[in-house]
Amino acid sequence: MKNTNVPRHIAIIMDGNGRWAQARGLSRVQGHQEGVKRVEEVIRAAKKYSVKYLTLYAFSRENWQRPKEEVSFLMGLLSLYLDQKLREMKENNVIFNAIGNLSDLPEMIQEKIAQGMENTRANTGVHVTFAFSYSSRYEITEACRRIAEGVRAGKIKLEEISEETIAGHLYTANLPDPDLLIRTSGEFRISNFLLWQISYAELYISEKFWPEFTESEFLKALEDYQKRERRFGRTSPVL
Ligand code: IPE
Ligand code: IPE
Ligand code: MG
Repeated sequence: MKNTNVPRHIAIIMDGNGRWAQARGLSRVQGHQEGVKRVEEVIRAAKKYSVKYLTLYAFSRENWQRPKEEVSFLMGLLSLYLDQKLREMKENNVIFNAIGNLSDLPEMIQEKIAQGMENTRANTGVHVTFAFSYSSRYEITEACRRIAEGVRAGKIKLEEISEETIAGHLYTANLPDPDLLIRTSGEFRISNFLLWQISYAELYISEKFWPEFTESEFLKALEDYQKRERRFGRTSPVL
């Protein structure tokens, strides 16, 4: 892989745990368990290839509608993951961050998340953001509400509301926009992830289910990105 033109920020829709398991005669939750291992692997790969920001869609606000057994298994898995990995992240210089409507999560998990963010705040390595109970439309709706409140309170001038004002009220206010959006398991859809932020992201769809998305698959996505020509609405430099 070339060292130039590495995406600064990669966002990933980690999809296909259930289908991976079903194809092997396993239960869906075993797919989630295997998927957790790939989370580790892509964080390590991001560090190795000098990707500075990684944002991982772990659980959507819509995912609460799944059968309650699956939801509670996922919450248990998340709790275990935080217990096991937050310490490692601190030691490995990873900055841990979480976005989404976090108050929907069990309180114990909210506390672990807050603690993890606090404990890794001073780190300087890969910035890993997990999206939990995340919905992009909800995020934008909440931003509008808070901006409107700011106007009502006289803190924001109506005429001065800009794209930066909106971006600054999203959960991602402190993150650059993703350069590359990866979705696994071959689906060509965004499923309510970072709608505002991916305006000019390059898209990469992998046919692999998330539990199969190993370092070498991550590398394929990076190399594919490096061949892209980003234009941001301008003409091609060779024309
Ligand atoms: C992604 O895998 C993980 C979550 C959404 C929590 P899925 O559980 O969506 O797996 P498929 O898409 O049904 O195969
Ligand atoms: C998107 O996957 C959410 C996560 C990966 C956490 P889903 O499996 O929920 O999305 P749809 O239902 O296929 O659009
Ligand atoms: Mg899915």
